[in-house]
Formats: sequence, structure tokens, C-alpha cells
Amino acid sequence: MEYTVPFINPRKHYQRHKSEIDDAITQCLTNGDLVLRQQLRDFERNFADFVGTKYAVGVNSCYHALHFSLLAAGIGPGDEVITVAHTFVATVSAIVHCGAKPVLVDVSPDYNMDVDSLERAITPRTKAIIPVHLNGRVCEMDRLMTIAENYRLVVIEDTAQALGAGFNDTKAGAFGLAGCFSFYPFKALGALGDGGAVTTNDPAVARIVTLLRFNGEDRETGDFHYHGYTALLDNVQAAVLSAKLRHLPDWIAHRRSVANRYDEKLAGVGDLMLPRFSEKKHFDSFQNYVIRTRSRDALRAYLRESGVETLVHWPKPMWQHEGLNLEDPMVPNTEAICREVISLPLSAETELEEVDYTTDCIRRFFSRR
Ligand SMILES: Cc1ncc(COP(=O)(O)O)c(C=O)c1O
Repeated sequence: MEYTVPFINPRKHYQRHKSEIDDAITQCLTNGDLVLRQQLRDFERNFADFVGTKYAVGVNSCYHALHFSLLAAGIGPGDEVITVAHTFVATVSAIVHCGAKPVLVDVSPDYNMDVDSLERAITPRTKAIIPVHLNGRVCEMDRLMTIAENYRLVVIEDTAQALGAGFNDTKAGAFGLAGCFSFYPFKALGALGDGGAVTTNDPAVARIVTLLRFNGEDRETGDFHYHGYTALLDNVQAAVLSAKLRHLPDWIAHRRSVANRYDEKLAGVGDLMLPRFSEKKHFDSFQNYVIRTRSRDALRAYLRESGVETLVHWPKPMWQHEGLNLEDPMVPNTEAICREVISLPLSAETELEEVDYTTDCIRRFFSRR
């Protein structure tokens, strides 16, 4: 279906940046630079500088960034790792694939880890915390890092949705032992397919992730140090990501102005709860603009009929998917969120006129009820 207002617009994005993207690809193909070449090293340097860490290691997804970071932290069978119930399944799968037990806690109204619930969930087996900075908003990292220090827990940040977001002047991905990023095309910095990165200040973590992503091999010596994986960030992807990274500050500024427009147009409409939270310590990058309403399904259907594409992150709680074999963590806030949230169209290409059309539809929906 062709939407009047698409959730994101990859075709428009490509047309806008065609010459830079084409040049980056052409250069790689012309030189035969396909795997582990200078373009990857350059991107890793640029990305680490942007996030504010010493190292960045490119991998093929945020899932693998999480998995490798947990392995680098020594997480394994018998360990518990605390994360949130309200996240994408990959956060939890990474814990499961290390042989550790995921412990899911509830979230606060800003969709991020409730730090009191975190502290209550700590047991002698807890080894690590994965805060998930959702929708472009960083968790309460001052309190969270203090708890981690007090209990000597490793912090691995799931920064899939928070590139460029900040808290007390530190960027997401620069707080914990490692930050785990996604370059899936829907993300603020999207690749041409899957991609991800680990950021860290710890040289040992950077080295272990570098080995794990390439079958455990040290490319200098040819020695295999682990049974690893095949999970590189491809060189062509890295070249394209470097070209795009230059635009990221402008794209984030645009996302924030789109969010402001949504706020302005939707204030006081129906029972809507808008994603406007304190920005005293936070700098929100608005990976998503998420509204809540008890009429979620009806509103979503109305928007679809009106040509507005929306997404729901995520309609069915993870533990209700039998195949995942997870215990019900008894998290009422997450359950309500699953019933009530809608993510509205938002990308670097979203025009303010599209926001106005979308918000007019939403106002009309509520005025008829
Ligand atoms: C919070 C969160 N964590 C992890 C991931 C996994 O990212 P990837 O698709 O790059 O593996 C996503 C992807 O949407 C996500 O939203």
C-alpha cells in the first residue's frame, strides 16, 4: 500500500543523498575494497569520535553487538542479566544465547528502565545490567551507574534506538563497558541493510569483539583465539555510513523539530499521552515519537485508512510468545504500554506538512468520538 505519509521514506532519503552514497559505493567497488578495508577503519574512528569513546568496532547488527559485548564481559551460564521487559526481543535473545538468564523489569512512564525495579531485581547471581535507551531517550544513567558500582555489575547499553541522545552531556553508548548500536535502515543512521557497532573505552572489549566478529581470528597473526562468528560490518556499508554520519547532527535536529511540531499540534487532544519528559539532564534524539491512548487500535486503523503509516513497538509482550520460553515478569506498566502505544511517522525526511496532515487526522478521530 502506498501511504500519503509513510513511516520512513527510504526512496526520498536515497534521492537526497544519492551522489554521496553512490560515490562511497563506487569507490569501494572500483578499488575492490569489500571486506575489512580502510573504509571500515575510518568509519569506526568517526563513529567512536561521534559517540565519545576510544573505540568502535563494526559488526553486522545490534544483536551481535549485544551478544559479543556480553561474551566479552564474561557473561555465561549461571549468570543473571537484568534488562527491561519493554524492548525488542534481540536484547533478550543476546542474553539467552550466552547461556545466561534474562531478568526482565518494568519501565517508567518515559519507557525506560525503572531504576527502583532494577535494584529490587538484583540477586547474588546478577552479573550485568542492560539498560535500553528507548525511542531516543537515555535511561536515568546517574542513578543506574551508581547502583551498578555499588553491586559491582557490568553495564552494557542497548543503544539501538539512541544514537546521538545524551544525558548530562555524555552520549548514549559512552556510559557502560560497551554501547551496542543498530544501523538497521529504520534507525537514525541507517545502513543499506543490517549493520551495528560496539563502542567502548576498554581495549580488551574492543579486541574480543574484533576477534569474535571474524571467526575468532587475529588477522595480523592468523591465530584463532575463540570459536567465533561471521558478523562483520561490510566495508561498503561502512563507507556509506561514514558519508551519512556527517549529516547526523542535522538529522537529529530535524527529528527534534518534528517532535516539537507533534507536541504543539497534539497537546490536549483526546486522552493522548505525549512523549514529552524532563530534558533537564536529557538530550532526546527522537528515534521514535510514541503516543499513548486507550483507543490505540481504533486510532491506528483510522490513520491507516487516512493513508498514514504507523508502527507499534511492540503489541504482544515478549513472554506471551510461547516459542521464547520466558517467564511472565509481572510488569503492569509494560503490559499497558503494549496495549496503548503508537509510533507516528518520523525520519530525517518527514516534512512538517506531513506532521500537520497526521495530526489533523488524529484530531478528527478524537473529535468524532
Ligand atoms: C532496542 C533494540 N535493541 C536491539 C535491536 C536489534 O537491532 P538489530 O536489528 O540491528 O540487530 C533493536 C532493533 O530494532 C532495538 O530496537
